[in-house]
Amino acid sequence: MFGGAYDGKKVLITGHTGFKGSWLTTWLLQLGARVAGYALAPPTNPSLFRACGLIDRIDHTEADVRDGGWLRETVSRWKPDFIFHLAAQPLVRDSYVIPVETYDINIMGTVHLLEAVRREGHACSVVVVTSDKCYENREWEYGYRETDRLGGRDPYSASKAVVETVVASYRSSFFSSDTGVRVATARAGNVIGGGDWSTDRIVPDAIRALQAGTTLIVRNPSGVRPWQHVVEPLGAYLWLGARLSTHGGEALADAWNFGPAESETRRVAELADALVTAWGDGRWQPQDGADGPHEAGILRLCIDKAQASLGWRPVWNFNTALTRTVNWYKAVPMDDTEAGVASEACLEDIGAYEGEAREKGAAWTL
Ligand SMILES: NC(=O)c1ccc[n+]([C@@H]2O[C@H](COP(=O)([O-])OP(=O)(O)OC[C@H]3O[C@@H](n4cnc5c(N)ncnc54)[C@H](O)[C@@H]3O)[C@@H](O)[C@H]2O)c1
Repeated sequence: MFGGAYDGKKVLITGHTGFKGSWLTTWLLQLGARVAGYALAPPTNPSLFRACGLIDRIDHTEADVRDGGWLRETVSRWKPDFIFHLAAQPLVRDSYVIPVETYDINIMGTVHLLEAVRREGHACSVVVVTSDKCYENREWEYGYRETDRLGGRDPYSASKAVVETVVASYRSSFFSSDTGVRVATARAGNVIGGGDWSTDRIVPDAIRALQAGTTLIVRNPSGVRPWQHVVEPLGAYLWLGARLSTHGGEALADAWNFGPAESETRRVAELADALVTAWGDGRWQPQDGADGPHEAGILRLCIDKAQASLGWRPVWNFNTALTRTVNWYKAVPMDDTEAGVASEACLEDIGAYEGEAREKGAAWTL
């Protein structure tokens, strides 16, 4: 997998205590990597990080990405071959409540990380995770391309647009090809999958409602989003990191969209219907007089560049992603006391994903 790029290699993940970070840590450990993580305590309770018992399997630093000194000390001590930067305030609605913190964590956290890499001055491949929301949203029916204008109406989206600019600036100012530092950004779609217990995200909100037998309230049923199972963008980040580290990889130090096939994008209402159907019981209804803070309506991603230049394409369709997600929550209890069950459920999804990718001839499995 991934050309064996991670076997025995040192990887630093920021945001490893979160939803995507815990999946990525699990996958990298399975690929034979030595993993260090840098993040605040898990942001949710229950937490996938705790449920998988990851703290005992990695070099764990609990610290703030805005603490440039600690970050630099961590990079200096661990000397990672690869860095995946996921730490962020990742919720659009929270960003309306804590805009200053959102800008600070997302933008300055990235600046401190890149500065640590610059000052420690050793070769490594860095994947900075931004978002599909970094584009100026025009409510277009077609997918955004990497060359489309960046922007963001809400503080979260704007912060990720700025992160894109910061990375491009560091790349051209400090990381010339002779430094051996290769930095790319990854703009992925809305992620679903087991083990997300965040608030104000439709899947965890739905699972809580379905388990409690209450009605799921849906804010924006006509919204369109590029839903993906969490293993899709993570596999893409891993492939991008692996390719960056190869001969000629500096040409790939750029911005990349990773999303579902165009035909697999769905409206929020379709996702809610599918969740209730897969659960086998339950109900949802639109929020009455929904007049909360603005959220984008239509959001699609064009993934032509990743297909053409990385040979990356999604493996699972919407139905598989949805069914796997619901089955995960059915298999794993809503507390994090049963060590092993959550880990096994994640490894089962990762194994199935790798297997199907291999059958389909995905470039990263060859
Ligand atoms: N989940 C999605 O649908 C989605 C979609 C596109 C992009 N993303 C991006 O993926 C990344 C991970 O998202 P997630 O869904 O796993 O979020 P999450 O909330 O589950 O995890 C966030 C992580 O960041 C850490 N963190 C937050 N503030 C920090 C700080 N000040 N210092 C150090 N660590 C801090 C948390 O401790 C946690 O480990 C984020 O950058 C997010 O913007 C997520």
